[in-house]
Parts: sequence; structure tokens; C-alpha cells
Amino acid sequence: MNKKYRKPIIAGNWKMNMLSTKTKEFADDLKPLLPKNRSSEAVLCVPFPLIPGVAKAVKGLRVSVGAQDVSVHDKGAYTGEVSAEMLSDLGVKYCIIGHSERRAYHGETDALVNAKAKKLLEKEISITPIICVGETLEQRELDVTMEWISMQVKGALSGLSGGEVRKCVIAYEPVWAIGTGKTATAEQAQEVCEYIRTVVRKLYDARTARSLPILYGGSMNAKNAAELLACPDIDGGLIGGASLKPEDFSVIINAANEE
Ligand code: PGA
Repeated sequence: MNKKYRKPIIAGNWKMNMLSTKTKEFADDLKPLLPKNRSSEAVLCVPFPLIPGVAKAVKGLRVSVGAQDVSVHDKGAYTGEVSAEMLSDLGVKYCIIGHSERRAYHGETDALVNAKAKKLLEKEISITPIICVGETLEQRELDVTMEWISMQVKGALSGLSGGEVRKCVIAYEPVWAIGTGKTATAEQAQEVCEYIRTVVRKLYDARTARSLPILYGGSMNAKNAAELLACPDIDGGLIGGASLKPEDFSVIINAANEE
């Protein structure tokens, strides 16, 4: 992490887990475990129905509430969709877009991710997109990781101004490391995160690249977080499984604080 230029962000991704009846207990357990003077931003990206309850439960904890997806449409006949305005209305501050699970199971393309980023960045919405990119194991073995990542980053940021990119977060999540317990080594994660920053520098400028928070995600946990967060281009984490356990999540937040 480079705290001079970027604020660390520890974002939990609850995916399709947890129930509204359990969120208060989660927040109550998390509260005493959070560091007093926190330099990092903590976020919980939760399923849509849990947003109001989690927002209430974490009040006063300096934890922001995030969503895991958003519609590209403003309103109307889009059964099952949730608009950016609805999220903004609920006080949502962050929204994951282009997660590999959405790309794999819901056919999300870079063009769709790009449209979602633009929607979230609209002035009256102002939700920070957490744009996920990452290669599969096959791509890593074929040695096309960097080309793939570059394509995803360029696709997601297409048509955005430098000012807009400075309001985004990118999460590098190797698909083979998600939910598998197989974390990328600190060297592997740093290499790709540094590369993402280089891609952004070439597309925009040094200032934009320097200020962009780049998170690592993929089996980040209480044990490996400190090592990953010590890397110069890893500015935080997008945490799935471990964010469902207050104790583990707080250890990662503490690691970001101490780094
Ligand atoms: P994981 O998930 O930490 O459970 O591997 C990370 C993610 O998918 O965001």
C-alpha cells in the first residue's frame, strides 16, 4: 500500500450469504474488534435486500454499505433489476461490478461493465464502482494474463475521463483464487496490480494511476492479508468468505490499518 497517495479499502463481498435477521449480531460482534483510529475504509457489499438493515446495523462503525451489482437501466420494465438511483437512495457508497461470478453465470461483458461504471459515476448517483478483473487458471497457464487483464481494464474504463477514473476502484481477482482457498502469492498479486496501474498510466496519466486504489481479491484471509497488503500496489482487499466472520474481517481491517 502507498498511503501517501491512496486510502486503503477493505471491502467485504457477502455474495449470496447472510440473512437480515443475522446482520445486527454481525455488526455487534464486529464493533469491539475494529481499530480505534482507522486510516482505512471498510465496506460491506451485501445482497440487495440486506442493504437497509446492514446500513442501520453498522451506523456509527464507519463501515460503508455497498452493493454487488447494478442495472444499466434507469427505471421501468426491467423485472428483477435494481437501479443505481435505488442504491443511491439507500445510501450505498460502493458497488461491485464485473465480478467473475457475474461474468461467468450471467454473461456480463466488458461493454456491460463499462456501461454500469458510467451509470454509477453519474453526478446524481456518485457511487464508487469496484471494477473486478481477473484471469482464469487456463489463461495464467497459457501466459496470457497480462493481455487479458489489459483488455478487461481498457474495456471497463472505455470512454471515462481521468476525473471519472479517479473515482473508481479496481479489484484484481484471479478467478482461480476465488473461493478456492488458493491465494495468489504476494509476488503474483503485486505483479498484476502494478501492471494494472501501468495500463491506467498509459491510458491516462501518472496522477490518475497514482490515485487509483487497486484491491486484491481471492481467498484473502486473516492469515495472508498482512503480506498481501504490504505490497506497494495493493491498496486493500475484496474479501468473500472471510468477510462473513467478524473476527476474520476485523483482522484484515486491522492489518490494513497497521500497514
Ligand atoms: P473469496 O472471494 O475471498 O471467498 O475468495 C473473493 C471475491 O469473490 O470477491
